[in-house]
Amino acid sequence: MKIHDLEFELFITAAQIHDKVQQLAAQIRQDYQSKTPLFLPILNGSFIFAADLIRAVNIPCRVSFVKHSSYTGTLSTGKLKTLIGLSESLFNQDIIIVEDIMDTGLTLSKVVDELRSLGTRSVEIVTLIRKEKARNHAVQPRYVGFDMDDEFVVGYGLDYEGFGRNLPDIYRKN
Ligand code: IMP
Repeated sequence: MKIHDLEFELFITAAQIHDKVQQLAAQIRQDYQSKTPLFLPILNGSFIFAADLIRAVNIPCRVSFVKHSSYTGTLSTGKLKTLIGLSESLFNQDIIIVEDIMDTGLTLSKVVDELRSLGTRSVEIVTLIRKEKARNHAVQPRYVGFDMDDEFVVGYGLDYEGFGRNLPDIYRKN
């Protein structure tokens, strides 16, 4: 299937994603049953995952979106803009960062550093996908949906040049 100017093939189906989201939600619900976490989905890519996950977790919680984009095209530029969108106090909060995909891990390590400096009680990460090279990174998610090789994927919130976010399944670049 063609997305923008590249060919992609089906990689993870909507049904597989659904099952995984339910599993992740069950773990989070169990771990946070006596807490009231603040979910921090990182825009743009995690908006669909976050919407499904947070509803499935189904415990009292708050949600605040932040943005920290480093991507143009299919390669990380390695450059990060500052985190925007943090309006409420994070002091003493149990934060769950919701990430779509962990590639180099650069985005998450910056976000975690920034959040810890704000006096949070705890900071954990849930990522739908973790790429191979992220597995050696110092910052690791507590919850991981799928581990995959270092390939480029789109769909379920993830984009290629802005396209493909609305696809219910996840596709891999040919
Ligand atoms: P990192 O800082 O290198 O870990 O990059 C993480 C961010 O890059 C993710 O939140 C995505 O927005 C984007 N990204 C990384 N890999 C992909 C991919 O395969 N497809 C689409 N976006 C990606």
